[in-house]
Amino acid sequence: MPYTIPAEKISEIKYASDILEIISESVVLKKSGRNYLGLCPFHSEKTPSFTVTPDKQMFYCFGCGEGGNVFTFIMKQEGLTFPEAVRFLAGRCRITIPEYSKGVVSENQINERDILLQINQQAMTVYHDMLIKSDDGAGARSYLERRGIPANILTGFKIGYAPPDWGRLTQYFSRLGTALNLVEKAGLIVRRSSGNGYYDRFRDRVIFPIFNSRHQVIAFGGRVMDTSLPKYLNSPETPVYSKSKSLYGFDIARSFCRQAGEVFVAEGYMDLLSLHLHGIQNSTATLGTAMTEEHIRLLKGICDKIILVFDSDQAGIKAAQRCTELFRLHHQPGDIRILVLPEGEDPDTYLQKYGSAAFRKAAADAYGVFSFLVDIAIQKHGLSLEGKLRVIQEMEAPLSSLSDAVVRSSVIREISERTGIDESAIQEKYRPAIHSRSTSKPLDTRTSDDHLRFEKRLIAMMLQFSEIIPEVIERKLIETLSDPLLKSIAMDIVACFDRMKQFSEHMDDLPSLLVMETDQIEKKKIIAEYSIQREEWRREGCLKLMDQYAAMQKRRRVRLLQQKIKAAEESHDDRLLQQLLKDFQMVTCPQEAGDYGKTVR
Ligand code: UTP
Ligand code: MN
Repeated sequence: MPYTIPAEKISEIKYASDILEIISESVVLKKSGRNYLGLCPFHSEKTPSFTVTPDKQMFYCFGCGEGGNVFTFIMKQEGLTFPEAVRFLAGRCRITIPEYSKGVVSENQINERDILLQINQQAMTVYHDMLIKSDDGAGARSYLERRGIPANILTGFKIGYAPPDWGRLTQYFSRLGTALNLVEKAGLIVRRSSGNGYYDRFRDRVIFPIFNSRHQVIAFGGRVMDTSLPKYLNSPETPVYSKSKSLYGFDIARSFCRQAGEVFVAEGYMDLLSLHLHGIQNSTATLGTAMTEEHIRLLKGICDKIILVFDSDQAGIKAAQRCTELFRLHHQPGDIRILVLPEGEDPDTYLQKYGSAAFRKAAADAYGVFSFLVDIAIQKHGLSLEGKLRVIQEMEAPLSSLSDAVVRSSVIREISERTGIDESAIQEKYRPAIHSRSTSKPLDTRTSDDHLRFEKRLIAMMLQFSEIIPEVIERKLIETLSDPLLKSIAMDIVACFDRMKQFSEHMDDLPSLLVMETDQIEKKKIIAEYSIQREEWRREGCLKLMDQYAAMQKRRRVRLLQQKIKAAEESHDDRLLQQLLKDFQMVTCPQEAGDYGKTVR
């Protein structure tokens, strides 16, 4: 039964479990400086690259990139979820974890997130029982039966039913003594516009609970059973729910995705259930939003191949274009494919009509993002000479986002193969465009390798030498980081640092605590990798690094402004030009900028 283990228990268990001792039981480790080295238990290797740092209570493999703290190790080694790993270690060091108690929670004891999760959990049980057992649920039961959803799916996904009354859930929580403002905060009830009291958000709907990867209920979706609108009502964003980061059914799909090495991403609740029902369990669904960068990161931590499933060309094209933007941000966003089902079918109806074998076959033929766009362009323009030229033209924009030369040339090769136009001729056609981009549009907004290296070092510095963190905050460096993943890690570090300071915890534990708190595998790995590098940081060295970084940022801004100024001059946009010149002055000699501003006016 999902329930949150109190945070103080988790840290008690962490302190009682020595990572060196635990890993030594299964890996032969040899001391090497501050670290211990051994053969990685998670991939096969002949020279040891698996590193354990007792100081930081972390491990990291320089070969395969696995890394984390003692909980991560047990999860990976024993194939357990986080709470299971906590219990596993609790057993080892004889710490008892209090059992879940129903009823009133004492507010000072548990933080707000935990309370909201508990409220969601309770609501889920109410809705689920209503569907499975009550007379009120009869209509919903037969609706789901008509839609082909069997009992094991209803229980596996904890599907529920919210009755038509306006106050059933409100009453339930007020009888339980839960503060209703918190139930409101969980998104389950809504304050009446008169200001007096609350009413239930979900009424007469089939309820789909949404879980995070720790199997905690973070939100709900509710479907009407007739044609009224909105068809689906969803929880609002809450402190525990952000839809751009959440995927429906992913908690259940995780291990299947890892096994299969690929994941299907559908668009709807019912599609996801149908996929499961048809044995395609390595599937998940977005929640009424387009695929986001966060989603891709979440999935990429588990498997390399992502197949996005759509019910129309239009939706597929939009998604593919959005993906090309992701290629702009990341050098290796991985293998992302687009599967468009025949006109009018979504995965649910398709599977019911044609079955899973047909689905898998269609999926095996699904195009990669760029090939898909080439295909669409060919469909649109045909393969007359003029059509071919249009196709080449249309691929120019998506291609411009590809910074990886190898991928780029393979896409160009494909365009060449499919249009029969010589590769070098296509290259030639794109060249002037690339050139003009660098003068008229700021090409340099992209992070250069050098730049990225600097940003990585800054993060490593914060992780390994936490006493420098206040200086980093003071200099406002984090706001200027350009790699989104590194920036978000830096923000996590600062948040963790602040919290630990408040409780006067020992800062050596910062990386380990951070690893425990992030859900994203990719982030965990980076944190582990950077924490474990053996560098001797000194304050002066750190200050110098930060100075260099600031200087580099400044050069970058100057370059960018110069490009914009040139473009503004060319287009005779005097207003913009004036503003840009002012900005330029501000960046290059801030002390005179004030005067300059006056003379212009
Ligand atoms: P669809 O309208 O395609 O519905 O919305 P569906 O998934 O096929 O559902 P059924 O088969 O009619 O029951 C796709 C997804 O978009 C979101 C939901 O997540 C839905 O599953 N959506 C749709 C909403 O959030 N609100 C809506 O009103 C409609
Ligand atoms: Mn549908």
